[in-house]
Amino acid sequence: MHKIDMDLIEMTMDVMKYTIDRISSTQHKIGKPKKAEELKGLVGDTITPKGVGGEYAFKMWKKHLAKANVPIDHPRHLAFVPASPTRAAIMFDLITSASSIHGAYWMEGAGGIFCENEAMEWIVSLTGLPKGAFGVFTSGGTAANLSAIVTAREYWRSLNEQNKVEKGLVITSVGAHSSIKAMAKVADVDILLVDTEDVMYGTALQETINNLTAHQRRRLFAIVATGGTTNAGIIDDLEGIARVCEAENLWFHVDAAYGGGALVADSVRPLFKGIERADSITIDPHKWMFSPYDCGAVIYKEPELAKRAHSQEGSYLDIFKDEGAHGFNPTDYQIQLTRRVRGLPLWFSLATHGTDRYKEAVERGLELAQIAGDIIEKMPHVELVRAPSLSCVLYRRIGWKPEDYTHWTYENHKKGFALVTPTKWKTGDTFETVSRFCFINPDTTEGDIKAILNSMK
Ligand SMILES: Cc1ncc(COP(=O)(O)O)c(C=O)c1O
Repeated sequence: MHKIDMDLIEMTMDVMKYTIDRISSTQHKIGKPKKAEELKGLVGDTITPKGVGGEYAFKMWKKHLAKANVPIDHPRHLAFVPASPTRAAIMFDLITSASSIHGAYWMEGAGGIFCENEAMEWIVSLTGLPKGAFGVFTSGGTAANLSAIVTAREYWRSLNEQNKVEKGLVITSVGAHSSIKAMAKVADVDILLVDTEDVMYGTALQETINNLTAHQRRRLFAIVATGGTTNAGIIDDLEGIARVCEAENLWFHVDAAYGGGALVADSVRPLFKGIERADSITIDPHKWMFSPYDCGAVIYKEPELAKRAHSQEGSYLDIFKDEGAHGFNPTDYQIQLTRRVRGLPLWFSLATHGTDRYKEAVERGLELAQIAGDIIEKMPHVELVRAPSLSCVLYRRIGWKPEDYTHWTYENHKKGFALVTPTKWKTGDTFETVSRFCFINPDTTEGDIKAILNSMK
């Protein structure tokens, strides 16, 4: 398996050709999922004692399996938070895979980690956090949020003996991403939600804190604000929340997994005022910084606190702390030990294109949301639910019931035309099913937007 022979050389050429075609193509097809039994019926058993051979396995991949995926970088994929990795980043993802770099410790991955840190310095500079702040790349926003919550909780526990036996409590809002609630479960802390899907203001947060019981207040250790909600692109009142956190001595985490990319855009940067006062921030380069999956990031005002929470101990790891191995060890600042140097593709793309091109590409996503808003306002069969925020647009098809949105989504997906999915918007106590665009890909056109809206007629 580890020897070089003719078959391997031919396979390398085939894989490279496939990759070159994929990187250089401008017209990806929107694939359709199939049931696992259907896929099994098409490809048969592929894992056998003797192997089916690379040529056959690759043929099955191209003929059947690749077509069951929806490329996230399709210009009419506007569902969830899509992605649009640059070609430079995708190419360097290949180098990252081919190089077998262990990205946990400087001793083994100094070259790769150096590059990651160069990219990280730029990201940290966008946040305005004070000198000394730094971060590491994670597998995504979920892992970044978990790493930050655990750091905050361990810091709180270190403050006094009573905290060590209490279950912690975190306040966030209804608009926060599902990963905050899920990661609170993993960290075994309780979550209390400020009841708004719109902007969480410092005043509402203060009121919630004032209404806590004395015991709840003792258990409260962190506030999670959102810098661009997944559903609607809403940025919480970061300045007001920072003020409350400082006055109440609480850890201030900003989940900007999606919105963080927009920190580079002059047109919306002022909306993030207050983020520079955070204790920790999540930003996902695999969302709006055009990196391939998977690449999230967690940044700390005081990285030393993260190190205290996450640094792993073991006799087999002592060597990494040795004088000769000194350097920055990414494993110390998040939950993962062995890790891919997943910031490397971002570094290469940034180095290739320069940060100005990133600014332009993000501004285009913001502009597309405004363009979509204008088009919607002119069409009689659709209307805006709220003004576009960051690159998210919520709109309704007048007269449609929830099942109409579902049917329309499946029809467009089946035709290989577009992937735009419904969501819900909460007003008071009611949830309305609506449609949603999220723009990331700068190659999406006005024509794409009009065609999607026309398909709702
Ligand atoms: C605001 C926010 N936080 C966290 C996440 C989770 O990130 P990931 O899917 O990379 O784990 C998302 C994903 O969409 C998000 O939008």
